[in-house]
This record gives sequence, structure tokens and C-alpha cells, in this order.
Amino acid sequence: MYEDEWATERRRLETSGHLSGPDGLRSRGRKLLFTRLLDVFGAGLRATPLYARGQANALDLRRVAFDVHLPGLPPSFDGYRILHLSDTHLDVLPELASVVHGLLDGAEVDLLALTGDVHGHHAAPVARSAGLLGEALRGVKVAGPRLAILGNHDSQGVADRLMGMGFDVLVNRSVAIHRGAGRLVLTGLDDVNSFYTEAARQALHAHARPVGADECRIALVHSAEMADHAARAGYALYLAGHTHGGQICLPGGRPLVTTLNRCRHGAVGLWREGAMIGYTSAGVGVSHPPVRFNCRGEVAFITLRRGEAPFR
Ligand SMILES: [Fe+2]
Repeated sequence: MYEDEWATERRRLETSGHLSGPDGLRSRGRKLLFTRLLDVFGAGLRATPLYARGQANALDLRRVAFDVHLPGLPPSFDGYRILHLSDTHLDVLPELASVVHGLLDGAEVDLLALTGDVHGHHAAPVARSAGLLGEALRGVKVAGPRLAILGNHDSQGVADRLMGMGFDVLVNRSVAIHRGAGRLVLTGLDDVNSFYTEAARQALHAHARPVGADECRIALVHSAEMADHAARAGYALYLAGHTHGGQICLPGGRPLVTTLNRCRHGAVGLWREGAMIGYTSAGVGVSHPPVRFNCRGEVAFITLRRGEAPFR
């Protein structure tokens, strides 16, 4: 079991009547009502031809690749390649595993960053989601660490599964990667949308000292909801998911729902919070109903570059 004290508190939060976020507790009732409404919507959609089209859209993943310029990036990390995956939820739409495998087979990166929601249905076996993830990733060559954090769909037991697959699961702690005189610090938080504890904020601020020329910090958080804290703590880059890019969007990609309770400017794609750059993945997978409209899922290849760049 991963970190006994945390695991005990996490399981207590998972069965409590409240969801915990950075701004306090929320009743679980509102979320349950939203889930019921989605169930009804999904059942209605299933009776129409739109359902098949929505599922085909969900399987139509894209590969995105872009550079992120960070002024404080140590020269030795210029060109550092990150594969960012989020919200795989492969138990919800298992056919996605082979699609992901096709997109990633043979890919070579320095770091794999998995930003939560490996699992989908709370009642489904975690082993199935983890097994499908293993299938999806089997052709990826990762020179450095495989880092993972938990999302709001991931129970405490998901951490154990991911560790069994070779991931270093960051629960409110940091790891440092050294290259020459440079150091990249990656801090991963437990999900802050539903399972926030003060330990998450403390983990960010534990490294809140001026960034020297030889150090750069990256936050891995399931949702953008800690963006303000991370920017104040001096992080250069913040990688997140959670929103699925909206999953069901208006034409043009405007999300109908983001399920963010704060920092909503970080709902989709690239964004900024002070001097920090954020990127919110549209996610690999889907939550129920397993459809996408006007919003493609993705796997993202991010290359770190030293220096300033106009914000895209
Ligand atoms: Fe998700």
C-alpha cells in the first residue's frame, strides 16, 4: 500500500458525504444529480444515430506535438521530451487502448507524465483499466521516469496498480531529475477536485524558493484548480487534464461543462497564470456517456525549450 497515512485519509474521503476542493467542502449530492442527468442523457442519446457518431468521434484520437518555452529551463533540459497523457478511462471505452497503441507505438520520450483518471467507472475493477493502459503503452520507449498522479475517478487502490506497472506515483511530493548542472523538479499532487487536503498545497509550497538558473519546476495536477497556488510557488509549467476538453462541446470546441470549480481559465489547452504556463489535455478517454462531439481526445508530445516565446 502506498503511504499508509495518506491512503487511510484518502479512503475516508472517498466514502465521505462531501467532496473536498481547495476552497472547502462541497456536498456530494450535486455531483450525484449531475451524474444521474448524464445517465438520462446517455440513455436518450443511445436511442439515436448520434450515439454511434459520438463514439466514433471518441475513438478518433489525435496526436498533438508542440514546444513550450520556459525562460528558467536549464540549458541541459533544452529539447526534453514529455509524453503527456491524461484521463485514459480505458474501462469506459476499451477500444481506445488499441487506438492509443497505434499512435504511440515506437515513440521515444524522456518522461511519461500521466495526469490522472486512469479509471472510469467506480464499480469496475481497477485491474481492467490498468491492464488496458499497459496494452496501450506497450510500444512507448521512455528514457527517464514514468510519473503518474491520481484523478478524481481514481481510488486509492489505483496508486498501487500504477506502481506495479512501474510508475512513480506522486502523491503530494516531488522528484528531481538531474542533467549536467541542471535540475528539473516535478511535483505531483493527489486529485484536488474531490480529494483536496492541505498536504497538496504544502507540497507545492515546499519547493517555493526562487528558481535559480539551474532549476525549473513542473507541477502535475489532475485539474487546473491549483494553478494560482502553483504560480505563486514559482512553478514554470503546470500539466493537467480532468475536463476532457469539455468532451461534448459546441461547434468550435467551446465546452458546455468543464467541472472546474476554480481556475476555469485553465479548462482547455494552453493557458497562463502569472508567469507560469499551463496545459490542460483534452484527455485520451471519456467518461459516461462514451461520446465526444466537437472535441477530439489526444496524446500530447511536449518538448521543453529554453527561452521566451510568444504565448500561443
Ligand atoms: Fe476524467
